[in-house]
Amino acid sequence: MNQDYIIPNEWSIVEEGFDPKTVKSSESLFSIGNGAMGQRANFEEDYSGETFQGSYIAGVYYPDKTRVGWWKNGYPEYFAKVLNAPNWIGINVFVNQEKLDLNTCKEISNFRRELNMKEGWLSRSFKATLQNNIQINVVSKRFLSLQFDELGVINYSVTPINSDAEITLTSYLDGAITNEDTNWDDQFWNITDITQENHQSFIQATTMKTDFHTCTFMESRVFVDNQLVNLDCEEINSSASVSTSYTNQTKQGQTIAIHKFGGYVVDRNHDKFKLVEAAKNILKKGTDLGFEKLLELQKKSWTQIWDMADITIEGDVKAQQAIRFNIFQLNQTYLGTDASLNIGPKGFTGEKYGGSTYWDTEAYCIPFYMATKDQKVARTLLEYRYNHLEKAIENAEKLGFKNGAALYPMVTMNGEECHNEWEITFQEIHRNGAIAFAIYNYHRYTNDYSYIPEKGLEVLIAIARFWHQRATYSTDKGKYVILGVTGPNEYENNINNNWYTNYIAKWCIDYAVECLYKVADAYREDSIRILKKTKVTKAEIEKWKEVAENMFFPYSEEHKVFLQQDGFLDKDLVTVADLDQSQRPINQHWSWDRILRSPYIKQADTLQGFYFFEDHFSEEELERHYNFYEPFTVHESSLSPCVHSVQAAKLGKMDEAYTFYLRTSRLDLDDYNHEVHEGLHITSMAGTWMSIVEGFGGMRVKDNKLSFTPRIPKQWKGYSFKINFRNQVLKVNIHQNKTDFELDSGDELTILVNDKLVVVTPNDLVTV
Ligand code: BGC
Repeated sequence: MNQDYIIPNEWSIVEEGFDPKTVKSSESLFSIGNGAMGQRANFEEDYSGETFQGSYIAGVYYPDKTRVGWWKNGYPEYFAKVLNAPNWIGINVFVNQEKLDLNTCKEISNFRRELNMKEGWLSRSFKATLQNNIQINVVSKRFLSLQFDELGVINYSVTPINSDAEITLTSYLDGAITNEDTNWDDQFWNITDITQENHQSFIQATTMKTDFHTCTFMESRVFVDNQLVNLDCEEINSSASVSTSYTNQTKQGQTIAIHKFGGYVVDRNHDKFKLVEAAKNILKKGTDLGFEKLLELQKKSWTQIWDMADITIEGDVKAQQAIRFNIFQLNQTYLGTDASLNIGPKGFTGEKYGGSTYWDTEAYCIPFYMATKDQKVARTLLEYRYNHLEKAIENAEKLGFKNGAALYPMVTMNGEECHNEWEITFQEIHRNGAIAFAIYNYHRYTNDYSYIPEKGLEVLIAIARFWHQRATYSTDKGKYVILGVTGPNEYENNINNNWYTNYIAKWCIDYAVECLYKVADAYREDSIRILKKTKVTKAEIEKWKEVAENMFFPYSEEHKVFLQQDGFLDKDLVTVADLDQSQRPINQHWSWDRILRSPYIKQADTLQGFYFFEDHFSEEELERHYNFYEPFTVHESSLSPCVHSVQAAKLGKMDEAYTFYLRTSRLDLDDYNHEVHEGLHITSMAGTWMSIVEGFGGMRVKDNKLSFTPRIPKQWKGYSFKINFRNQVLKVNIHQNKTDFELDSGDELTILVNDKLVVVTPNDLVTV
């Protein structure tokens, strides 16, 4: 059973009524972030029930020493952990000296949470009766500023309802923080200094081993019935925390509120010896503006984001809520302002998946960022990999490859591999393919070729070298084979000739060769520089081509499909529909060896290849492969349903496409995979965007033109989206019987709609 307590609403995520069982799940769902930091939606006041406390700073991590059963040569020394950082949101409430704790109150009513996605804030309100029978009304609102990304603000108010009461609000910083996810229970933080001056508090802490210097800070203002008051306060400073308490004899019906300004400054952006000074600067900016003005700025920043990225859906509130939730969370995670950051599968909502970067970025996220932001954001994501090229070459060398071959890490923080399961670290090498594909995709979409001579070609050469060396010649087959791999479907390990891997390997070589010649022709200087640096020769290129031209692809004559891998047909081919449903998800019910022997596919694998290389195959071939593989696919990776949704839509199977859309878009809201308490699936959220824009809208780039094949689920009256195509913004509005196109500005744009040319001129509505 999926969860269904989130109340449908077009612009907000709403929960009503307090249920301790949903606390951890809501902490994930209501998470907030601003690209530079993020936090789970933990209560400000202490909560003694089950909770998962989490607050994270982008780019600050800990290299947790690898822990495995049997050490295998080539394993990385560490697994980078996203670090739970000191907590700055804490505000404890004492009512006649009794501490408010929602787990121990006599009664809680009118509990409501809202994550307002339009304006970018989180709020919570409730009435609580404490053991001492005093009833209070609590309202809190907080956000992490997009304008000043080191700053967050909370407005927390308490009103005694049934009598006068002494209310104490204790605002604190807590540095005694641990990770849920740790290999050896190491201490991750070293607190170096705790100070308080002029009602401001600072905890300076460094991370162990990585030595990131951080300063967590706070300052509070207190208001009684909206009037700023200067209450006496008590400041307490311990070895790991610091607090300031304000006490007020509060009349029945009177409201005491605290505006708390807090956040982090880090030596990634500041001089490590001047962090307190930097914190004071940001506090000054925050307190000068005050809560309300900061909120106005927050709304403005989100309006700008939505103006470009919003998708509207008419006639289906749950679908509308879901797509906005996905777009909102992606923007909370990554905004493209810092080239050393990337998009972690859990963003700032949990610790699972450690490192920040997977192939998810190239395979799933880049299309979203390309179309909804300035194209330099996607370029920044490509540059992230260029900046890690040397490390990817070292990584390949460690595994025995040579001559500048690169194997990009499966999981990384700083370019070093930090994943350590042999079947993934050593075998899930298809990730190299997605990195090359993203370069191609970026050029296809933006028409900006300059990235390739400047940076991309070096990456393509190193990847081509890897595939050339990784393939082996089979005299039996008279072909090149790629042995011992894991494809995107991680429910198969150590397989031979995963079709997807072999296909993308061949494509990478072909594409690298094409780019080498094009750069040699059109960018002489770059070509000379690159050839000098990489020492690529004609003879070497010929060897790559020999591999690409003679690559082996497993195929079934009987079914007329490419086989996911050698021997796939030997499996007991019982479809998912015929599987005992109580056994699902199989990864929570079956032993690993049983999963490996089964035909079940965790996520799009052969179909991932058909997604990337759609135009290499006919629609009939796509349909045959879809019909063959979909019945065995369990979609136990969040990355799966979106690809199937795009393909089902292309094949006109709109009911299936819609079901997959709901599954991908409401994956976390409805908790399909029973794990939302661990955090959200951020990277697959870009897949949700794909299933609307590429799936239903049928958006592609064909013949260097934007092309659409609009379709619409029968459940919807209409939907619309905007895309930035080569610096022009096109609005597409699809209804059951017509599609409108509108250009915001710029030059006229010729697009393809159902393969026919259509000219769209600025500020003129074109209806097809
Ligand atoms: C998927 C991978 C993905 C990773 C992070 C895994 O469950 O199988 O393809 O890269 O999650 O999202």
